[in-house]
Amino acid sequence: MTSAANGPASGARAAHPDHLGHVIFITAAAAMGGFLFGYDSSVINGAVEAIRDRYDVGSGTLAQVIAIALIGCAIGAATAGRIADRIGRIRCMQIASVLFAASAVGSALPFSLWDLALWRIIGGFAIGMASVIGPAYIAEVSPPAYRGRLGSFQQAAIVVGIAVSQLVNYAILQLADGDQRGDIMGLEAWQWMLGVEVVPAVLYGLLSFAIPESPRFLISVGKKERARQILEEVEGKGVDLDARVAEIETAMHREHKSSFRDLLGGRFGFLPIVWVGIGLSLFQQLVGINVAFYYSATLWQSVGINPTNSFFYSFTTSIINIIGTVIAMVLVDRVGRRPLVLIGSTGMAIALAVEAWAFSADLVDGKLPGTEGVVALIAAHTFVLFFALSWGVVVWVFLGEMFPNRIRAAALGVAASAQWIANWSITASFPSLADWNLSGTYMIYTGFALLSIPFVLKFVKETKGKTLEEMG
Ligand code: GLC
Repeated sequence: MTSAANGPASGARAAHPDHLGHVIFITAAAAMGGFLFGYDSSVINGAVEAIRDRYDVGSGTLAQVIAIALIGCAIGAATAGRIADRIGRIRCMQIASVLFAASAVGSALPFSLWDLALWRIIGGFAIGMASVIGPAYIAEVSPPAYRGRLGSFQQAAIVVGIAVSQLVNYAILQLADGDQRGDIMGLEAWQWMLGVEVVPAVLYGLLSFAIPESPRFLISVGKKERARQILEEVEGKGVDLDARVAEIETAMHREHKSSFRDLLGGRFGFLPIVWVGIGLSLFQQLVGINVAFYYSATLWQSVGINPTNSFFYSFTTSIINIIGTVIAMVLVDRVGRRPLVLIGSTGMAIALAVEAWAFSADLVDGKLPGTEGVVALIAAHTFVLFFALSWGVVVWVFLGEMFPNRIRAAALGVAASAQWIANWSITASFPSLADWNLSGTYMIYTGFALLSIPFVLKFVKETKGKTLEEMG
């Protein structure tokens, strides 16, 4: 099949520009799920102090209430694939949108701390679903020549979602005179922070009515005519539609009916390709990226800057994250996925090692000496930049496209839930690891960045420019 990459049935040629505009709209609408993913996972950071105060709980209980959303994410990701295969990608987006909206309202008006936790789990479930459905759908409607760039909309939306939640939290805080519990029209500031998410949630639901169902899903349920129309809409008029439909059908039949059981095989439980997806997910998290987002205050404090205005400091990380993401979007279809992740791993390993070195210095009055402090800050931002231009974007692109059609949604679900569990492990263990030894903690992350290099070299295949039917 590989030789077909540039053959007549392949969509690997450039799409017709008219269609490209349309495909960009479809992709951006689907990527709203990514926006909500970034927004929801980050918005809580602006509200934690108020929640602690309001419910009078210790840090341990509070951390659990926050981390519990990540378990919801893992469950949402694990089930989204099956739901998407059964009722379609668009319906799945609509369910996620309703859950996001319900969770926004419920978390803003909770009866108790545990009620809040419950709504956060429901929101987490929706994030998990969005983390699977976005990449799968985008890969399925993208012409191959642009699939990497269109697939990176998902991560772009995630990083923009993180940045917008920081801005919205900041604006709300200003209205409440800097007090997370300050009153704005009868509600406390933190309640507004959590509740405002209902706006993008509803928008996501509305947009999902304006975009077509995935042609691959339609073919899997026998709606070939509709699938042909959509393929023409997204891949352009020059494409041989009969050949494309036949190609997709053959690829679907080649792999038998999909269920969780179909992911199993070989000596190690899952099929090798599923393990590769899980490995990519794990490495993306084990380098400690979310420590940079969730615990940025720890970094700034240890270099002697007291982040009273924590908005400004966490926002600098977001800006670097956005810049790196744009670089990746430009490069992903040019240089390919593999070179990008290899460059990213190397850059991250160096930056993390430098950070580990800086934090090995003896603290003076609880902070790093001048030189080490500056070096630690530069290294931390360099790390985020290298992550953003490589593993941030590329893993979501890979997960959307690397699996054969029939197992895509289910396999993506397993890989994404592994990612949420790894995210939870890293963020939950960081406070204890930091108490033990900050330098040692960064050495562990350095180790994972280094290990990711042989993993990619040995197990990860380039997917640039191939049709989805050529994967497998
Ligand atoms: C990726 C990761 C996510 C992280 C984000 C940061 O999307 O999957 O965990 O928060 O990048 O940009």
